[in-house]
Amino acid sequence: MRRVFFLTILMCGGSSLFALDNGLARTPPMGWNSWNKFACNVSESLIRDAADAIVSTGMKDAGYQYVVIDDCWQVSRDAEGNIVPDAKRFPGGMKALADYIHSKGLKFGIYSDAGTGTCQNRPGGRGYEFQDARQYAAWGVDYLKYDWCNTTTQNSVASYSIMRDALAKSGRPIVFSICEWGSSKPWLWAKDVGNLWRSTGDIQDKWDIEMKWGGHGVVQILDLQDGIEFASGPGHWNDPDMLEVGNGGMNTTEYRAHFSLWCLMAAPLMAGNDIRSMTDEIRGILTNKEVIAVDQDALGYQGRRVKRDGGREIWSKQMADGSRAVALLNRGDSETEIRVAWTDIGYPDSVSAAVRDLWAHQDLGSQQGGFAAKVPSHGVVMVTVRPR
Ligand code: GLA
Repeated sequence: MRRVFFLTILMCGGSSLFALDNGLARTPPMGWNSWNKFACNVSESLIRDAADAIVSTGMKDAGYQYVVIDDCWQVSRDAEGNIVPDAKRFPGGMKALADYIHSKGLKFGIYSDAGTGTCQNRPGGRGYEFQDARQYAAWGVDYLKYDWCNTTTQNSVASYSIMRDALAKSGRPIVFSICEWGSSKPWLWAKDVGNLWRSTGDIQDKWDIEMKWGGHGVVQILDLQDGIEFASGPGHWNDPDMLEVGNGGMNTTEYRAHFSLWCLMAAPLMAGNDIRSMTDEIRGILTNKEVIAVDQDALGYQGRRVKRDGGREIWSKQMADGSRAVALLNRGDSETEIRVAWTDIGYPDSVSAAVRDLWAHQDLGSQQGGFAAKVPSHGVVMVTVRPR
């Protein structure tokens, strides 16, 4: 008996007895989250409107599914320790809101924190993991984002593993989204614990910025993915943070590049804008099905930078059918030509390949040895390359 017990511990790697095997997020999760645009200004009507807008704008058809309330929905715990939602902002309660979201054919997500308090100092989950998981399941929660504020000396693997086990026991399939900002290199351990894990500090609605407290612009986040791509795959994804597309701090070219590269990296796609009032241009970016198909490719390969020459970069993603998705990225201040050679993306020079532009929705014919295009400043040209 004793031998069996020790063997089990050895086989499970020591940190926990159960690996994550919840069958969820086989492709990167897609949805909408309240934080980037609304921060603490969340309410039942906002979340209902967001669910309606996901359907009416065509985002649901494009694959967006999870409607996630981030921080500030919770105010306290009651005498039995149950988490209490803000009754003024959510008068109908969480179960009714979940039912509404489900009635639209969408899924419901919520936010908490592994420490004693959330990042906005609302009650955290520490010590209440199993009770909270049961409550979330009873409400109909399908997705939990779990943050890392107010954790003092807690161990991240141990803390997140408790919630992983609590969710597993809750009786409901719940996607587990780890948000410890890459602090303890989750790409080395989180695959057995969560379905996705943030790999960086908080994204800012800026192309190029580095905040003292750890916020990053789009290009800083891109650079931080270098070398961790191996950890992503079906059921377990590096998460370079939610989208800022449509929030106003970047131009359309930059938002198109931001979205393209997130798709190329097989990133979770959580829109973070006000989808009730977005322009057609922004909707066109968020719902480009050809670019989304790159993100959602069944192989689950995280694309990576394969070449860098000053501000000219080539990013490539292997696809399940053997083709490549390629983004030519111009980080420089003026338009430039960028050329990808087939040898840069793992094909012989002699190969003749069909090239298709995923933003122009245009076949560019058969190209031998490589392909070149003019790329605007802070923009991308994104293509698929299919050897014939
Ligand atoms: C942290 C997370 C953000 C957001 C806020 C909420 O900063 O990284 O994504 O959830 O907390 O307070």
